[in-house]
Amino acid sequence: MSSTASDQRVALVTGAAQGIGAGIAARLKRDGWRVVTADIKPGDSGSRHVIADMGDEEAVNALVAGIEREEGRLDALVCNAGIMIRKPIAELSLAEWRRVLDINLTSAFLLAKASERMLAAAKGSIVTIASSRAHQSEPNTESYSASKGGLLALTHALAVSLGPAIRVNCVSPGWIDVQASALSAKDHAQHPAGRVGKAEDISSLVAFLTGPEAGFVTGAEFLSDGGMTRKMIYAE
Ligand SMILES: NC(=O)c1ccc[n+]([C@@H]2O[C@H](COP(=O)([O-])OP(=O)(O)OC[C@H]3O[C@@H](n4cnc5c(N)ncnc54)[C@H](O)[C@@H]3O)[C@@H](O)[C@H]2O)c1
Repeated sequence: MSSTASDQRVALVTGAAQGIGAGIAARLKRDGWRVVTADIKPGDSGSRHVIADMGDEEAVNALVAGIEREEGRLDALVCNAGIMIRKPIAELSLAEWRRVLDINLTSAFLLAKASERMLAAAKGSIVTIASSRAHQSEPNTESYSASKGGLLALTHALAVSLGPAIRVNCVSPGWIDVQASALSAKDHAQHPAGRVGKAEDISSLVAFLTGPEAGFVTGAEFLSDGGMTRKMIYAE
């Protein structure tokens, strides 16, 4: 690690060109972190932004090597990049299945593997962004649900393998509106919390989990879904 590493904590947030990832990057920056963002799309968060495909091992390794070279340390890794393909299983190709698994799940394995040394040196932490769909499904979402269930299991496996140096936790969002969509009163009212979620509902949890007050929290999942996974629904 570079001897010029500063005292400022460094976080890497993937999939941060927009949506939840951009919200997490902005929150950590506001909290005083130096943030590096990575995405296949350009970003305009004001953080150092790297164009990289998280499903590609070489790109992930180059991204992490660049952080060691440029920043000299890594204290938090937020594995947020993700995609969803909705298709009946008969129409879902093996290549599509693999692409979803690569981006949503294998990326976290690659990122953790490449970052372990720097994160351990910093006594840092990893946060994975899974989904309430790790626990429940709509039709035609097999690849996404499987990837998020895998990510949840990878989280506790990593927590056990990489502790005590590195804490590893998972945030599972429910419905988070990242596009300022036209939402109906019914959309909000169906949630026990009375509203659809926003990016801040996720970034606040990530800020806690990567912060000094979460020292006893590892291997855990935090559902931020407005209560939807606790709600029984029977036909009317
Ligand atoms: N929004 C929700 O309701 C919701 C609910 C549950 C879970 N999530 C999860 O939260 C995360 C962020 O979701 P979002 O709603 O902000 O989605 P989004 O589509 O708005 O943003 C995802 C970002 O990931 C990037 N990305 C896609 N493939 C990539 C790749 N190969 N390499 C690097 N970056 C890549 C995209 O370019 C995009 O900027 C995802 O993992 C998603 O599965 C979202």
